[in-house]
Amino acid sequence: MSKFKKTLLCGIAPLLLASMLGLTTQAVASDERLYGRFTKDNELYTPRNYREWVFIGSSVTPNDMNDGAAAFPEFHNVYIDPGSFAHWKKTGEFRNNTVIVKELVGIRGKESPSGNGYFPGEFNGIAAMVKSEKRYPNRPGNWAYFGFDGESRHGAIQEDSACSACHQQHAEQDQVFTQGYPVLRAAKP
Ligand code: HEC
Repeated sequence: MSKFKKTLLCGIAPLLLASMLGLTTQAVASDERLYGRFTKDNELYTPRNYREWVFIGSSVTPNDMNDGAAAFPEFHNVYIDPGSFAHWKKTGEFRNNTVIVKELVGIRGKESPSGNGYFPGEFNGIAAMVKSEKRYPNRPGNWAYFGFDGESRHGAIQEDSACSACHQQHAEQDQVFTQGYPVLRAAKP
């Protein structure tokens, strides 16, 4: 075989192998992909496709169990972006650029053919938190918390006293209530 052919083969073989192992390269790529998009003031553009992310758990805090005034009187359906979930599976940590969305869904009633309880009704909006050393160097744990007003195109960063304080005090790991997310616990290495 000519030297030229040999060199060509040496160059091409690894490429062929890599493309045959497409899954592996894809997994690496998705791990590195970032999901949040931000305004120049580092406010998170309203996530649109979070229902296709990884669903990690749900809870409900109805008004009638909270003296008529729950802070979030709905179901809280929580999703984490897929790249950060892949990182969590490897390390058991929330990476820089983790985006977690809490979707709020109202209660439509307390009876259903399956029994008595609280049953989800209409979509009411979202809240979110994002971890980034670069964007939020001065926030505790580098987490920023976002509220979203109606149809606004991006979220507004909330005061620490409104959101972060309670999370810092009560959440099990890095301000996230991992105690409520069986999906995260099962995936933790
Ligand atoms: C009084 C305590 C408290 C306050 C204040 C609070 N949260 Fe939470 N938050 C929780 C708890 C507890 C959970 C776990 C799931 C649940 O119970 O809904 C949670 C869950 C979340 C989640 C899902 C990820 C996680 O950490 O579990 C997001 C996102 C979130 N809250 C955003 C916010 C935002 C934004 C604010 C401020 C507007 C806020 N929270 C204020 C207690 C609080």
